[in-house]
Amino acid sequence: MSAPQWLDAWDPSDGAERAAASFRTRFGTEPDGIWSAPGRVNLIGEHTDYNGGLCLPINLPHRTYVALRRTFRSGPGGADVEEVRLASAQEPDAGVWSSTLADIGPGTVTGWPAYAAGVAWALRREVDTLGGFDAVVDSCVPYGAGLSSSAALECAFAVALDDAFHLDFGADDAGRAILAAACIRAENEIAGAPTGGMDQSSSLRATAGHALLLDCLDNSVRHVPFDLEASGLALLVVDTRAEHQLSDGQYAARRATCDAAAAQLGVVTLREVDPGALEEALAGLTDDVVTADVARRRVRHVVTEIARVTELVALLDAGRPGDIGPLLDASHISLRDDYEVSCVELDLVVESARAAGALGARMTGGGFGGSAIALVEVDRVGAVAAAVADAFAAQELTAPAFLVAHASDPASRTV
Ligand code: GLA
Repeated sequence: MSAPQWLDAWDPSDGAERAAASFRTRFGTEPDGIWSAPGRVNLIGEHTDYNGGLCLPINLPHRTYVALRRTFRSGPGGADVEEVRLASAQEPDAGVWSSTLADIGPGTVTGWPAYAAGVAWALRREVDTLGGFDAVVDSCVPYGAGLSSSAALECAFAVALDDAFHLDFGADDAGRAILAAACIRAENEIAGAPTGGMDQSSSLRATAGHALLLDCLDNSVRHVPFDLEASGLALLVVDTRAEHQLSDGQYAARRATCDAAAAQLGVVTLREVDPGALEEALAGLTDDVVTADVARRRVRHVVTEIARVTELVALLDAGRPGDIGPLLDASHISLRDDYEVSCVELDLVVESARAAGALGARMTGGGFGGSAIALVEVDRVGAVAAAVADAFAAQELTAPAFLVAHASDPASRTV
Protein backbone atom coordinates (compact mmCIF):
# COMPACT_ATOMS: atom_id res chain seq x y z
CA MET A 1 0.00 0.00 0.00
CA SER A 2 1.33 3.45 -0.86
CA ALA A 3 0.05 6.32 1.30
CA PRO A 4 -1.55 9.01 -0.89
CA GLN A 5 0.13 12.42 -0.81
CA TRP A 6 -2.29 15.31 -0.27
CA LEU A 7 -1.80 18.81 -1.68
CA ASP A 8 -3.20 21.13 0.97
CA ALA A 9 -4.29 24.68 0.20
CA TRP A 10 -2.84 27.42 2.38
CA ASP A 11 -5.10 29.34 4.65
CA PRO A 12 -5.43 32.77 2.95
CA SER A 13 -3.95 34.60 5.94
CA ASP A 14 -0.89 32.29 5.79
CA GLY A 15 -0.54 32.80 2.06
CA ALA A 16 -0.76 36.56 2.52
CA GLU A 17 1.82 36.55 5.30
CA ARG A 18 4.22 34.44 3.23
CA ALA A 19 3.99 36.86 0.31
CA ALA A 20 4.35 39.89 2.62
CA ALA A 21 7.40 38.40 4.37
CA SER A 22 9.08 37.64 1.04
CA PHE A 23 8.30 41.17 -0.15
CA ARG A 24 9.96 42.68 2.94
CA THR A 25 13.02 40.49 2.44
CA ARG A 26 13.35 41.36 -1.24
CA PHE A 27 12.50 45.03 -1.20
CA GLY A 28 13.06 46.11 2.42
CA THR A 29 9.66 47.77 2.77
CA GLU A 30 5.95 46.96 3.21
CA PRO A 31 3.75 46.12 0.19
CA ASP A 32 0.65 48.23 -0.48
CA GLY A 33 -1.44 45.08 -0.17
CA ILE A 34 -1.74 41.37 -0.89
CA TRP A 35 -3.97 40.02 -3.64
CA SER A 36 -4.62 36.43 -4.63
CA ALA A 37 -6.23 34.33 -7.34
CA PRO A 38 -7.22 30.66 -7.48
CA GLY A 39 -6.30 27.80 -9.77
CA ARG A 40 -9.25 26.01 -11.33
CA VAL A 41 -10.44 22.55 -12.20
CA ASN A 42 -12.83 22.01 -15.09
CA LEU A 43 -15.83 19.73 -14.44
CA ILE A 44 -16.63 19.24 -18.11
CA GLY A 45 -16.31 21.04 -21.45
CA GLU A 46 -12.72 20.31 -22.45
CA HIS A 47 -11.09 21.83 -25.51
CA THR A 48 -14.33 23.64 -26.19
CA ASP A 49 -13.35 27.18 -25.16
CA TYR A 50 -11.40 28.02 -28.32
CA ASN A 51 -14.28 26.57 -30.36
CA GLY A 52 -16.86 29.05 -29.04
CA GLY A 53 -18.25 26.30 -26.83
CA LEU A 54 -19.33 25.80 -23.23
CA CYS A 55 -17.21 24.81 -20.26
CA LEU A 56 -17.87 24.43 -16.54
CA PRO A 57 -14.89 25.12 -14.26
CA ILE A 58 -14.80 25.65 -10.50
CA ASN A 59 -12.13 27.58 -8.59
CA LEU A 60 -9.84 25.67 -6.25
CA PRO A 61 -9.03 26.76 -2.69
CA HIS A 62 -5.39 26.77 -3.87
CA ARG A 63 -4.29 30.33 -4.66
CA THR A 64 -1.38 32.40 -5.90
CA TYR A 65 -0.54 35.41 -3.71
CA VAL A 66 0.95 38.68 -4.92
CA ALA A 67 2.44 41.31 -2.60
CA LEU A 68 2.70 44.53 -4.60
CA ARG A 69 3.76 48.11 -4.07
CA ARG A 70 3.43 51.00 -6.48
CA THR A 71 6.73 52.73 -7.14
CA PHE A 72 7.84 56.01 -8.61
CA ARG A 73 11.39 56.32 -9.85
CA SER A 74 12.03 59.52 -11.71
CA GLY A 75 13.91 59.47 -14.97
CA PRO A 76 15.77 62.29 -16.74
CA GLY A 77 12.73 64.59 -17.19
CA GLY A 78 11.35 63.83 -13.72
CA ALA A 79 8.76 61.43 -15.09
CA ASP A 80 8.26 57.92 -13.70
CA VAL A 81 10.54 55.46 -15.50
CA GLU A 82 7.80 52.90 -14.87
CA GLU A 83 10.12 50.23 -13.63
CA VAL A 84 8.70 46.76 -12.97
CA ARG A 85 10.56 44.55 -10.51
CA LEU A 86 9.41 40.98 -9.85
CA ALA A 87 10.54 38.18 -7.57
CA SER A 88 9.20 34.77 -6.65
CA ALA A 89 9.28 33.24 -3.18
CA GLN A 90 9.43 29.89 -4.95
CA GLU A 91 12.82 30.85 -6.38
CA PRO A 92 14.63 32.39 -3.39
CA ASP A 93 18.04 32.09 -5.04
CA ALA A 94 17.02 33.77 -8.28
CA GLY A 95 17.60 37.50 -8.62
CA VAL A 96 14.95 40.18 -8.97
CA TRP A 97 13.67 40.41 -12.56
CA SER A 98 13.37 43.97 -13.77
CA SER A 99 12.28 45.87 -16.84
CA THR A 100 10.21 48.92 -17.67
CA LEU A 101 6.61 49.00 -18.89
CA ALA A 102 7.84 50.39 -22.21
CA ASP A 103 10.24 47.47 -22.71
CA ILE A 104 7.69 44.73 -22.00
CA GLY A 105 6.19 43.30 -25.17
CA PRO A 106 5.89 40.17 -27.31
CA GLY A 107 9.18 38.29 -27.33
CA THR A 108 10.87 40.38 -24.61
CA VAL A 109 10.06 38.31 -21.49
CA THR A 110 10.69 34.62 -20.80
CA GLY A 111 9.87 32.29 -17.91
CA TRP A 112 7.30 33.01 -15.21
CA PRO A 113 7.71 36.84 -15.34
CA ALA A 114 6.02 36.72 -18.77
CA TYR A 115 2.71 35.83 -17.09
CA ALA A 116 3.02 38.69 -14.59
CA ALA A 117 4.62 41.43 -16.69
CA GLY A 118 2.38 40.36 -19.59
CA VAL A 119 -0.69 41.39 -17.61
CA ALA A 120 0.78 44.84 -16.97
CA TRP A 121 1.52 45.11 -20.71
CA ALA A 122 -2.03 44.05 -21.64
CA LEU A 123 -3.69 46.37 -19.09
CA ARG A 124 -1.53 49.23 -20.30
CA ARG A 125 -3.26 48.77 -23.65
CA GLU A 126 -6.59 49.44 -21.91
CA VAL A 127 -5.57 52.33 -19.65
CA ASP A 128 -2.69 54.78 -19.44
CA THR A 129 -2.76 55.15 -15.66
CA LEU A 130 -0.55 52.16 -14.91
CA GLY A 131 2.92 52.96 -13.54
CA GLY A 132 5.92 51.21 -12.02
CA PHE A 133 5.65 48.59 -9.27
CA ASP A 134 7.54 46.01 -7.22
CA ALA A 135 5.95 42.61 -6.60
CA VAL A 136 6.66 39.23 -5.04
CA VAL A 137 4.61 36.10 -5.69
CA ASP A 138 4.10 32.92 -3.72
CA SER A 139 1.69 30.10 -4.48
CA CYS A 140 0.19 26.82 -3.36
CA VAL A 141 -1.39 26.09 -6.74
CA PRO A 142 0.32 22.89 -7.88
CA TYR A 143 2.66 23.78 -10.73
CA GLY A 144 2.48 21.87 -14.02
CA ALA A 145 -0.57 19.96 -12.79
CA GLY A 146 -3.07 21.28 -15.32
CA LEU A 147 -4.75 23.27 -12.54
CA SER A 148 -4.02 26.69 -14.06
CA SER A 149 -1.10 27.89 -12.03
CA SER A 150 -0.37 30.26 -14.92
CA ALA A 151 -3.89 31.73 -14.91
CA ALA A 152 -3.73 32.10 -11.12
CA LEU A 153 -0.52 34.09 -11.52
CA GLU A 154 -1.98 36.29 -14.24
CA CYS A 155 -5.26 36.89 -12.42
CA ALA A 156 -3.55 37.68 -9.10
CA PHE A 157 -1.58 40.37 -10.94
CA ALA A 158 -4.70 41.57 -12.72
CA VAL A 159 -6.60 42.24 -9.48
CA ALA A 160 -3.47 43.63 -7.78
CA LEU A 161 -2.79 46.14 -10.58
CA ASP A 162 -6.49 46.93 -10.93
CA ASP A 163 -6.75 47.79 -7.26
CA ALA A 164 -3.36 49.43 -6.70
CA PHE A 165 -3.76 51.73 -9.74
CA HIS A 166 -7.51 52.30 -9.20
CA LEU A 167 -8.50 50.95 -12.60
CA ASP A 168 -11.84 49.83 -11.14
CA PHE A 169 -12.43 46.84 -13.38
CA GLY A 170 -12.59 44.35 -10.52
CA ALA A 171 -15.81 45.64 -8.97
CA ASP A 172 -18.29 43.81 -11.21
CA ASP A 173 -18.47 40.90 -13.63
CA ALA A 174 -18.31 43.09 -16.73
CA GLY A 175 -15.06 44.63 -15.49
CA ARG A 176 -13.71 41.24 -14.51
CA ALA A 177 -14.34 40.04 -18.05
CA ILE A 178 -12.06 42.89 -19.20
CA LEU A 179 -9.39 41.79 -16.71
CA ALA A 180 -9.76 38.20 -17.95
CA ALA A 181 -9.28 39.37 -21.53
CA ALA A 182 -6.06 41.15 -20.49
CA CYS A 183 -4.81 37.97 -18.83
CA ILE A 184 -5.60 35.94 -21.95
CA ARG A 185 -3.65 38.43 -24.08
CA ALA A 186 -0.72 38.15 -21.66
CA GLU A 187 -0.74 34.37 -21.96
CA ASN A 188 -1.20 34.29 -25.74
CA GLU A 189 0.99 37.19 -26.78
CA ILE A 190 3.66 37.55 -24.09
CA ALA A 191 4.00 34.04 -22.65
CA GLY A 192 3.31 32.54 -26.09
CA ALA A 193 0.84 29.82 -24.99
CA PRO A 194 -2.09 29.67 -27.46
CA THR A 195 -4.70 28.75 -24.83
CA GLY A 196 -8.43 29.59 -24.86
CA GLY A 197 -10.01 31.70 -22.11
CA MET A 198 -11.53 29.24 -19.67
CA ASP A 199 -8.85 29.38 -17.00
CA GLN A 200 -8.67 33.16 -16.63
CA SER A 201 -12.47 33.50 -16.77
CA SER A 202 -12.82 30.99 -13.98
CA SER A 203 -10.19 32.53 -11.74
CA LEU A 204 -11.71 36.00 -12.08
CA ARG A 205 -15.43 35.28 -12.56
CA ALA A 206 -16.38 31.96 -10.85
CA THR A 207 -17.75 32.27 -7.31
CA ALA A 208 -17.61 30.12 -4.17
CA GLY A 209 -20.18 27.33 -4.08
CA HIS A 210 -20.79 27.57 -7.82
CA ALA A 211 -19.47 26.19 -11.06
CA LEU A 212 -19.07 28.74 -13.83
CA LEU A 213 -21.05 27.96 -16.96
CA LEU A 214 -18.99 29.92 -19.45
CA ASP A 215 -20.34 30.46 -22.95
CA CYS A 216 -17.25 31.19 -25.01
CA LEU A 217 -19.29 32.39 -27.97
CA ASP A 218 -20.42 35.58 -26.27
CA ASN A 219 -18.37 35.35 -23.05
CA SER A 220 -21.54 35.26 -20.92
CA VAL A 221 -21.60 33.35 -17.65
CA ARG A 222 -24.08 31.64 -15.36
CA HIS A 223 -23.24 30.65 -11.80
CA VAL A 224 -24.51 27.10 -11.30
CA PRO A 225 -24.86 26.04 -7.63
CA PHE A 226 -22.34 23.27 -7.00
CA ASP A 227 -22.29 21.75 -3.55
CA LEU A 228 -21.33 18.09 -3.71
CA GLU A 229 -20.93 17.77 0.05
CA ALA A 230 -24.63 18.38 0.57
CA SER A 231 -25.20 15.22 -1.49
CA GLY A 232 -22.56 13.20 0.35
CA LEU A 233 -20.18 13.47 -2.61
CA ALA A 234 -16.69 14.82 -3.21
CA LEU A 235 -14.61 15.81 -6.21
CA LEU A 236 -11.24 14.11 -5.96
CA VAL A 237 -8.51 15.72 -8.07
CA VAL A 238 -5.48 13.62 -8.95
CA ASP A 239 -2.29 15.29 -10.15
CA THR A 240 -0.59 12.58 -12.21
CA ARG A 241 2.77 14.40 -11.89
CA ALA A 242 3.19 13.76 -15.59
CA GLU A 243 4.06 17.29 -16.60
CA HIS A 244 2.14 18.84 -19.41
CA GLN A 245 3.32 21.77 -21.46
CA LEU A 246 0.72 23.84 -23.25
CA SER A 247 3.16 25.85 -25.31
CA ASP A 248 4.33 22.69 -27.05
CA GLY A 249 2.89 21.78 -30.42
CA GLN A 250 0.02 19.45 -29.53
CA TYR A 251 -2.38 22.02 -28.11
CA ALA A 252 -1.73 24.41 -31.00
CA ALA A 253 -2.20 21.53 -33.44
CA ARG A 254 -5.64 20.72 -32.01
CA ARG A 255 -6.66 24.35 -32.34
CA ALA A 256 -5.43 24.51 -35.91
CA THR A 257 -7.37 21.37 -36.82
CA CYS A 258 -10.57 22.76 -35.30
CA ASP A 259 -10.12 26.06 -37.14
CA ALA A 260 -9.49 24.29 -40.44
CA ALA A 261 -12.50 22.00 -39.92
CA ALA A 262 -14.75 24.97 -39.11
CA ALA A 263 -13.57 26.70 -42.28
CA GLN A 264 -14.33 23.59 -44.36
CA LEU A 265 -17.78 23.40 -42.83
CA GLY A 266 -18.42 27.07 -43.54
CA VAL A 267 -18.88 28.06 -39.89
CA VAL A 268 -16.93 30.52 -37.75
CA THR A 269 -16.64 28.15 -34.78
CA LEU A 270 -17.50 24.48 -34.23
CA ARG A 271 -20.15 25.66 -31.75
CA GLU A 272 -22.35 26.25 -34.77
CA VAL A 273 -22.37 22.57 -35.76
CA ASP A 274 -25.79 21.18 -34.81
CA PRO A 275 -25.27 18.01 -32.73
CA GLY A 276 -28.39 16.57 -34.41
CA ALA A 277 -26.77 16.95 -37.82
CA LEU A 278 -23.30 15.85 -36.75
CA GLU A 279 -22.97 12.90 -39.13
CA GLU A 280 -23.80 15.07 -42.15
CA ALA A 281 -21.28 17.67 -41.03
CA LEU A 282 -18.60 15.05 -40.54
CA ALA A 283 -19.22 13.72 -44.04
CA GLY A 284 -18.35 17.18 -45.34
CA LEU A 285 -14.79 17.05 -44.02
CA THR A 286 -11.98 16.13 -46.37
CA ASP A 287 -8.24 15.66 -46.04
CA ASP A 288 -6.74 19.06 -45.28
CA VAL A 289 -4.38 19.97 -42.41
CA VAL A 290 -4.94 16.42 -41.14
CA THR A 291 -6.72 13.45 -42.72
CA ALA A 292 -10.50 13.55 -42.88
CA ASP A 293 -10.65 10.69 -40.37
CA VAL A 294 -8.67 12.67 -37.79
CA ALA A 295 -10.63 15.88 -38.45
CA ARG A 296 -13.92 13.99 -38.01
CA ARG A 297 -12.86 12.60 -34.66
CA ARG A 298 -11.68 16.00 -33.45
CA VAL A 299 -14.95 17.66 -34.49
CA ARG A 300 -17.00 14.85 -32.98
CA HIS A 301 -15.28 15.39 -29.65
CA VAL A 302 -15.92 19.12 -29.64
CA VAL A 303 -19.59 18.89 -30.69
CA THR A 304 -20.46 16.04 -28.32
CA GLU A 305 -18.51 17.60 -25.45
CA ILE A 306 -20.46 20.85 -25.73
CA ALA A 307 -23.68 18.81 -25.57
CA ARG A 308 -22.40 17.01 -22.47
CA VAL A 309 -21.88 20.35 -20.70
CA THR A 310 -25.54 21.20 -21.27
CA GLU A 311 -26.63 17.77 -20.01
CA LEU A 312 -24.45 18.00 -16.92
CA VAL A 313 -25.72 21.46 -16.05
CA ALA A 314 -29.30 20.19 -16.40
CA LEU A 315 -28.53 17.44 -13.86
CA LEU A 316 -27.01 19.97 -11.44
CA ASP A 317 -30.01 22.26 -11.91
CA ALA A 318 -32.26 19.30 -11.11
CA GLY A 319 -30.33 18.65 -7.86
CA ARG A 320 -28.91 15.37 -9.19
CA PRO A 321 -25.10 15.70 -8.88
CA GLY A 322 -24.86 11.99 -8.10
CA ASP A 323 -25.98 11.25 -11.66
CA ILE A 324 -23.24 13.13 -13.52
CA GLY A 325 -20.76 10.23 -13.45
CA PRO A 326 -21.64 8.74 -16.87
CA LEU A 327 -21.10 12.15 -18.51
CA LEU A 328 -17.64 12.39 -16.92
CA ASP A 329 -16.82 8.91 -18.22
CA ALA A 330 -18.07 9.75 -21.71
CA SER A 331 -16.03 12.94 -21.74
CA HIS A 332 -12.89 10.99 -20.90
CA ILE A 333 -13.46 8.40 -23.60
CA SER A 334 -14.04 11.16 -26.14
CA LEU A 335 -10.86 13.01 -25.09
CA ARG A 336 -8.89 9.78 -25.11
CA ASP A 337 -10.09 8.27 -28.37
CA ASP A 338 -11.37 11.13 -30.52
CA TYR A 339 -9.34 14.13 -29.36
CA GLU A 340 -6.28 12.05 -28.38
CA VAL A 341 -5.07 14.28 -25.56
CA SER A 342 -4.96 11.70 -22.75
CA CYS A 343 -1.91 9.70 -21.70
CA VAL A 344 -1.05 6.51 -19.81
CA GLU A 345 -1.14 8.21 -16.40
CA LEU A 346 -4.50 9.95 -16.97
CA ASP A 347 -6.09 6.74 -18.24
CA LEU A 348 -4.73 4.90 -15.22
CA VAL A 349 -6.30 7.40 -12.79
CA VAL A 350 -9.65 7.03 -14.50
CA GLU A 351 -9.54 3.23 -14.63
CA SER A 352 -8.26 2.72 -11.10
CA ALA A 353 -10.63 5.30 -9.58
CA ARG A 354 -13.62 3.75 -11.35
CA ALA A 355 -12.55 0.25 -10.27
CA ALA A 356 -12.36 1.52 -6.69
CA GLY A 357 -15.92 2.81 -6.78
CA ALA A 358 -15.73 6.34 -8.22
CA LEU A 359 -19.06 7.24 -9.84
CA GLY A 360 -17.32 8.77 -12.85
CA ALA A 361 -13.89 10.08 -13.79
CA ARG A 362 -12.15 11.99 -16.53
CA MET A 363 -8.99 13.84 -17.41
CA THR A 364 -9.33 17.58 -16.91
CA GLY A 365 -7.54 20.56 -18.48
CA GLY A 366 -5.41 20.47 -21.60
CA GLY A 367 -4.24 16.86 -21.24
CA PHE A 368 -0.94 15.08 -22.07
CA GLY A 369 -0.37 14.82 -18.30
CA GLY A 370 -1.71 17.13 -15.62
CA SER A 371 -4.73 16.12 -13.58
CA ALA A 372 -7.84 13.95 -13.62
CA ILE A 373 -11.02 14.25 -11.55
CA ALA A 374 -13.17 11.56 -9.96
CA LEU A 375 -16.66 11.90 -8.49
CA VAL A 376 -16.57 9.96 -5.25
CA GLU A 377 -18.86 9.31 -2.30
CA VAL A 378 -17.42 11.31 0.61
CA ASP A 379 -16.63 8.27 2.72
CA ARG A 380 -14.79 6.63 -0.20
CA VAL A 381 -12.32 9.48 -0.84
CA GLY A 382 -9.46 7.87 1.10
CA ALA A 383 -10.05 4.43 -0.38
CA VAL A 384 -10.21 5.68 -3.96
CA ALA A 385 -7.07 7.79 -3.49
CA ALA A 386 -5.26 4.79 -2.01
CA ALA A 387 -6.34 2.59 -4.93
CA VAL A 388 -5.07 5.13 -7.46
CA ALA A 389 -1.77 5.51 -5.58
CA ASP A 390 -1.39 1.72 -5.53
CA ALA A 391 -2.09 1.44 -9.24
CA PHE A 392 0.67 3.99 -9.95
CA ALA A 393 3.09 2.20 -7.64
CA ALA A 394 2.34 -1.13 -9.32
CA GLN A 395 3.31 0.37 -12.66
CA GLU A 396 6.37 2.08 -11.16
CA LEU A 397 5.07 5.50 -12.13
CA THR A 398 5.88 8.67 -10.17
CA ALA A 399 3.52 8.84 -7.17
CA PRO A 400 0.47 11.02 -7.94
CA ALA A 401 -0.79 13.71 -5.56
CA PHE A 402 -4.37 14.37 -4.43
CA LEU A 403 -6.70 17.13 -3.34
CA VAL A 404 -10.42 17.48 -2.76
CA ALA A 405 -11.86 20.42 -4.68
CA HIS A 406 -14.47 22.79 -3.22
CA ALA A 407 -15.82 25.56 -5.43
CA SER A 408 -13.90 28.54 -4.03
CA ASP A 409 -13.65 32.33 -4.24
CA PRO A 410 -12.44 34.26 -7.28
CA ALA A 411 -9.42 36.56 -7.47
CA SER A 412 -9.54 39.43 -4.99
CA ARG A 413 -7.63 41.48 -2.47
CA THR A 414 -6.63 39.28 0.49
CA VAL A 415 -5.16 41.89 2.85
C1 GLA B 1 -5.99 24.48 -21.09
C2 GLA B 1 -6.24 25.84 -21.68
C3 GLA B 1 -7.72 26.17 -21.69
C4 GLA B 1 -8.54 25.04 -22.30
C5 GLA B 1 -8.13 23.69 -21.73
C6 GLA B 1 -8.81 22.55 -22.41
O1 GLA B 1 -6.33 24.47 -19.75
O2 GLA B 1 -5.56 26.82 -20.94
O3 GLA B 1 -7.93 27.38 -22.37
O4 GLA B 1 -8.45 25.05 -23.70
O5 GLA B 1 -6.74 23.51 -21.80
O6 GLA B 1 -10.16 22.57 -22.16
